Amino acid sequence: MSERVADTTLKYLGSVHLKNGVIGPHFEVVKEALLRTIKEAIGEEKCSDEMSSAWGEAYDQLAAAIKAKMKEEAA
Ligand code: HEM
Repeated sequence: MSERVADTTLKYLGSVHLKNGVIGPHFEVVKEALLRTIKEAIGEEKCSDEMSSAWGEAYDQLAAAIKAKMKEEAA
């Protein structure tokens, strides 16, 4: 992921979320909300498991990269 999202962007996002008091478990809640929203937007029957897990994977990678930056800044 960090190959495609600039390091300065990740650092910025880490900083924004740290300063807003976001903590690890919040990322799971937002993931659920994102997946449900996508399902709703494209229609339950059109949303395959493959599609959901692709979105889930992309989210997890981005979340991990942001969380790593938050840890770095908090240290
Ligand atoms: C992969 C996961 C996430 C991504 C890609 C993401 C992305 C963003 C972006 C692009 C912004 C706007 C930054 C700016 O002001 O320029 C933002 C702001 C924010 N995000 Fe996230 N976010 C993620 C997860 C979360 C989570 C888990 C929470 C906690 C519930 C959260 C809470 C917030 C808050 C409070 C702001 C500031 C809103 C404001 O300035 O009024 N985000 N996020």
